[in-house]
Amino acid sequence: MRIILLGPPGAGKGTQAARLVEKYGLPYISTGDILRAARNSDTELGRKAKEYMDRGELVPDEVVIGLVRERLSRLRQRGSFILDGFPRTVAQAKALDEILAELGMALDRVIDLEVDPPALVRRLSRRRTCRVCGAVYHLDYNPPQQPGVCDSCGGELYQRPDDQEATIQRRLQVYFEQTRPLEEYYERRRLLTRIDGEASIDEVELAIETVLGLKEQE
Ligand code: AP5
Ligand code: MG
Ligand code: ZN
Repeated sequence: MRIILLGPPGAGKGTQAARLVEKYGLPYISTGDILRAARNSDTELGRKAKEYMDRGELVPDEVVIGLVRERLSRLRQRGSFILDGFPRTVAQAKALDEILAELGMALDRVIDLEVDPPALVRRLSRRRTCRVCGAVYHLDYNPPQQPGVCDSCGGELYQRPDDQEATIQRRLQVYFEQTRPLEEYYERRRLLTRIDGEASIDEVELAIETVLGLKEQE
């Protein structure tokens, strides 16, 4: 199973990926998580990541492509993966095609979670993220059992710096300008499936499992 989760900031990519990972044990590659881990370190990558992420801009293609190439080549034996947040530009999608061809792998499906901007803003502005394990919560839609504490690891929940109103707006704009063209890119390759991402978390999960043929036997 080799899949991409596509969709705007706040569409639920991380939320759904976590469920698929837990149920099916698929290797998970989130460029956002990798860059967030790097930004806390005093390295060239960390400084670069922070500079772009805090403005809501995309980190340069060559940086992100290098990170993904490295992760994908390490996964080779198992051959399965969920990509979250990559690719995000046509150049990244083309690079991914090349990397997969080199590794002898092919994509199975690109799942596009569709959510309109007003709902995206409601989701992002009240999201909380675990500092330790990256688990994602929402103060209204998916609250932790204890305020401020991660259910799965007990870590501290915080608000991502890019989840401030002005940065959210910029991220959405960047998505429409640079990432939206990927819908057409994958549609032409007959890999794209659109899913209504405004349904409940459970409903979206079921829709994804159905598309991937994971629910057929039941
Ligand atoms: P990244 O971390 O990938 O952020 P993003 O794409 O902006 O997406 P989010 O993580 O904000 O949203 P999500 O779709 O995962 O939603 P979630 O499940 O959390 O990237 C961050 C930054 O890193 C970028 O801006 C860029 O700078 C850089 N970067 C990353 N990848 C890059 C790349 N490839 N190239 C260049 N730069 C890159 O859900 C959101 C909220 O909604 C949560 O609170 C959740 O609980 C709630 N929720 C989820 N589903 C539902 C539902 N069905 N109903 C109600 N609430 C829901
Ligand atoms: Mg995410
Ligand atoms: Zn945690």
